[in-house]
Amino acid sequence: MRGYLVAGNWKMNGSFDANRALVAGIVGGAPADVDVQLLVCPPFPYISSVGKLIEGSPVQLGAQNVSEHSSGAFTGETAGSMLRDVGCDFVIVGHSERRAIMGETSSIVADKFKAALSAGLKPILCVGETLEQRESGQTKAVIDEQLTAVLDAVGIDGFEDAVIAYEPVWAIGTGVTASPEQAQEVHRHIRELLESRDAGVAEKIKILYGGSVKGDNAAGLFSNPDIDGGLIGGASLKSDDFLAIAEAATSLC
Ligand code: PGA
Repeated sequence: MRGYLVAGNWKMNGSFDANRALVAGIVGGAPADVDVQLLVCPPFPYISSVGKLIEGSPVQLGAQNVSEHSSGAFTGETAGSMLRDVGCDFVIVGHSERRAIMGETSSIVADKFKAALSAGLKPILCVGETLEQRESGQTKAVIDEQLTAVLDAVGIDGFEDAVIAYEPVWAIGTGVTASPEQAQEVHRHIRELLESRDAGVAEKIKILYGGSVKGDNAAGLFSNPDIDGGLIGGASLKSDDFLAIAEAATSLC
């Protein structure tokens, strides 16, 4: 049993007041089931304060990005060691918004993944195709390129404590979700690619689905054998919505 991880990617949303209310709701309703882990990834300025709000609860803390460098003259960047310092266990790397808007290439994403591991963080590697790539039959080739860039940089052992999130770009923030069949097909493909390097790592790793996950579609997605939870954007900003997704996972345990 791999269990489920339900991770909230708050993106560039929040304030002290809004975070307090959101976290109080999440902590108050967090499932007691140890097979369903909850994670919140607030924007950088709020990581410390959210860390205090979740203290003593099973909710875990992560960041949305990390520098590929460990320290030095990189104005505006944040090192993995700093994220550990403020209590993060996880960090999202290679989110499609960073790839598309901030120009992060697969090679930069691989360096960030490596930097996260060096700092003792668990990377959540996001991969996913655009609508155009899906419609032209390139989905698996795109996923292979994004995943292989990281595998080549850190080796399969680097995935021992990592998480992968399959996030079709066309499903992010659009209200259009991949069907459970579409998602399962890609998740299976990802696990098989890892299996070709190490069956043990492939069996153990959690592969999350992300892209318009909501309380009413989560169970349909999570009931598939290779879908181990979700990376949630919009629905992670309201505790009831986020908890409904966690409950869907709990109902499958
Ligand atoms: P969404 O975002 O749930 O709002 O589609 C998911 C993500 O970008 O991680």
